[in-house]
Amino acid sequence: MNPIETLAIRDWYAPVAPELAAHALDALEAGCVLRLPLPFVLSADEQVLLSDRLLSGARKNISYNPADDSVKGADGDAGLEALLRGMLGRYHASTRALALQLFAPYAGQMRDGRASYRPAEIAGRVPKSWRHDDTRLHVDAFPATPVHGRRLLRFFNNINPHGEPRRWNVGEPFADVAARFFPRLPPDSPLKARLMALAKITKSKRSAYDHYMLALHDAMKADLDYQREVAKTAAEFQPGETWIVYSDQASHAVLSGRFMLEQTYYVPVAAQRYPERSPLRVLERLAGRALV
Ligand SMILES: [Fe+2]
Repeated sequence: MNPIETLAIRDWYAPVAPELAAHALDALEAGCVLRLPLPFVLSADEQVLLSDRLLSGARKNISYNPADDSVKGADGDAGLEALLRGMLGRYHASTRALALQLFAPYAGQMRDGRASYRPAEIAGRVPKSWRHDDTRLHVDAFPATPVHGRRLLRFFNNINPHGEPRRWNVGEPFADVAARFFPRLPPDSPLKARLMALAKITKSKRSAYDHYMLALHDAMKADLDYQREVAKTAAEFQPGETWIVYSDQASHAVLSGRFMLEQTYYVPVAAQRYPERSPLRVLERLAGRALV
């Protein structure tokens, strides 16, 4: 399968043919990036949101929590915040409707994460450290928020008003990344995981799976020879395009772009059509034991 699979879907809410949905699910769970000619259209009022001056302080994105319809990270008055809530709430609803059309087996098991709006330019930004440098190939894993094996399903949309693409590189398949790096990853420590949870460094106790995913994320980014030499596919996501990916599985680097929307969902491995392809099962095969 191509690392980037194009699906001819142009509407968030129109029914999707069963064969197309089956192909989408197969490609998604194989670790492909699904690319759709599907714009997210802003209303005339919302055009004022196309500015990076909305960001408060040194923040790089504005986040939206669908659970309580709240917005964080914006610098503006109540009117602007209401516009952001409206736009991000509609984005959440649109992506959820499409997810349930394309990935019907996830119904009832897929949980909402946050949405984010990223108006700021990626290229030329100086990251806090190499760990924060998303221009290096990596799989997503978050230090403070253990997922205990749950998948990170993410919907992206380029809403850039200046015709600029969002540029990514997509790396090798997850099974290859994992086989390459697993032998050099440090072993997990249940005691350290318990202490980090007690000290509230993590929001819940980090599982062995979370440990290995973070270690993998770090090992990939730290290895500059790997970054330079591994096979990669360049992708330019144009304004008006949607892309959907399991970002814990597809190795990716974000090179440039601004004005992007993102919505995260959490999907249990038990809901997968092909659970054996999930990072949890791949890493468990390498470790020879259960990791959650
Ligand atoms: Fe990422």
